[in-house]
Amino acid sequence: MRAFLREQSCRSSLRSSSLNSIQGFLEGHSRGYRPQTVISVKVRQVSAGPKEGILLLREASQPSNKGGTTVFSSLYREERPFFVDNTRFKGAVQGMKEKLEALKAEALAKLQEVTDPQILNDLRVKYLGKKGELTEVLRGMGGLSAEERPVIGQVANLVRSAIEEVIGTKQEIFQQQETQNRLNAEKVDVSLPGRGLPQGGIHPLNRVIQEIEDIFIGMGYRIEEGPEVETDYYNFEALNLPKNHPARDMQDSFYLTEDLLMRTQTSPVQVRTMQAMKGETPVKIICPGKVFRRDDDDATHSFQFHQIEGLVIGRNIRMSDLKGTLLQFMKEMFGPTAGIRLRPSFFPFTEPSVEVDVSCFKCGGEGCRLCKQSGWLEILGAGMVHPNVLRMGGYDPEIYSGFAFGVGAERIAMLKYGIDDIRYFYTNDMGFVKQFKGI
Ligand code: PHE
Repeated sequence: MRAFLREQSCRSSLRSSSLNSIQGFLEGHSRGYRPQTVISVKVRQVSAGPKEGILLLREASQPSNKGGTTVFSSLYREERPFFVDNTRFKGAVQGMKEKLEALKAEALAKLQEVTDPQILNDLRVKYLGKKGELTEVLRGMGGLSAEERPVIGQVANLVRSAIEEVIGTKQEIFQQQETQNRLNAEKVDVSLPGRGLPQGGIHPLNRVIQEIEDIFIGMGYRIEEGPEVETDYYNFEALNLPKNHPARDMQDSFYLTEDLLMRTQTSPVQVRTMQAMKGETPVKIICPGKVFRRDDDDATHSFQFHQIEGLVIGRNIRMSDLKGTLLQFMKEMFGPTAGIRLRPSFFPFTEPSVEVDVSCFKCGGEGCRLCKQSGWLEILGAGMVHPNVLRMGGYDPEIYSGFAFGVGAERIAMLKYGIDDIRYFYTNDMGFVKQFKGI
C-alpha cells in the first residue's frame, strides 16, 4: 500500500520538504486516520527526490474496561512501505527563490527607469519597506526548515543588496543633478555688463581745501581743527579783539548766549593750538573749517563759508618768510608763473597786516574781466602775529615771532573754476555739482 498518503493531503499539510517535517507529518497524519497507530516511521532519504520508507503500524485494540484497566484485545503489527513524492515541496524553496529573483528583476527594471527622487523613494518603500514586497516574500520563510532558511535568507540578502545598490546609485545621481541644478541656477553670468555705480565727485570746496592742505603738508605743516561753536574769549579776546573793540563790527556773528557764538573765523584754532603746545616750537599748522557771519547772502556773500588759516611760530620768523611761503603757495595753486603783491591792511591779531593779491591767472596780469582789468586778484589776508596774541597763546613775543594768514575756500574755488555765485556751493544743484566729476 504505497499510496498511503494521498497527494491532496500532502499538498495542504506538508509545506516543507525537509526530512524531519515529513516524518512529523506522517506520524500526525496517520494518527486517527485509521484504527491503526503508527509505532515508528523509517524514512529513507532519497536526496532531492521523492521520499520512501517503512511505516510500522499497530492496529488499535478494542479497548475493554475491566475493573478500570484498559486491556488491548489483540496486538496487530504491520509494516507498510510508504512513498511521498516531495519534489513539489522541494519547490517551496525553489518557488521562493524564483519569487525573489522575479522581484529583483522587476525592481531593477522599474528602478532603471526612475527619473524622479520621489518615485525612487516610493519604490524603495514598495520593495524594501517594512510592508514591502521583499518582506512579504520573506514572511513565507516560516514554512521552511532550519536547513532551508539560510539558503533563502542568502538569496533574499543578495536581492536586497542588489536593489539597495541600484537605489543608492540612483540617489547619488539625483543628488549630483540637484547640486548641478542649483549651481546652474546660481551661476553668475559674467558676460553681462556690470551695473554701473553712479560716479561721485568731490565737491569743489572740499577739493580746494584738500589741495591747500596737500600743499602745506608738503611744507611740513599739520592740520588742526576746532569747534564751530566758540567762546567769545577764543573767537575774539585771545585774538586781541577785546569787548567793544570796533573791529568786532567786521565780524558780526550769531550768538547762542552772551558768551557763546558760531565762530566767525578759524583763528580761534590758532589760539587753542598755541595753548595746547605750551610754548613749544615750531608751530606750523593749517586750520580748515566752517565759519559763520551775520551777512546777507548775495552772489559774493554767505552767512556761512570756509576758511583755511595758517600759523607759524618760532624764532626769527620774519615778514620775508610769510612772503616766501605765500608765493610758493600761489605758484602751486595757480601755476609757476603766479606772482603776489602785498598791500598794507589791518587785522587786530596781526601787526603789520597785509592784504595779498595774486597775479591774474587768466590774463597773466594784462587785465581782463576776471581781475577787473587790474591784473591782480585779491586772495587773502595775512600778517605777523600780534605780540598780544603770542602772549595770550603762551609765547614770549621777545623771543618768538610768527606769521598768520587766512584764505577763503569759496573765493579760491570761484576764481579757479569761474563760478560767479557763491550760493551754488550750498544749494546742491546737481547740474552744478556734476560738473566737478572727475576734475
Ligand atoms: N581771520 C581773518 C579773517 O577772517 C583772516 C586772517 C587770518 C587775517 C590770519 C590775517 C591773519 O578776516
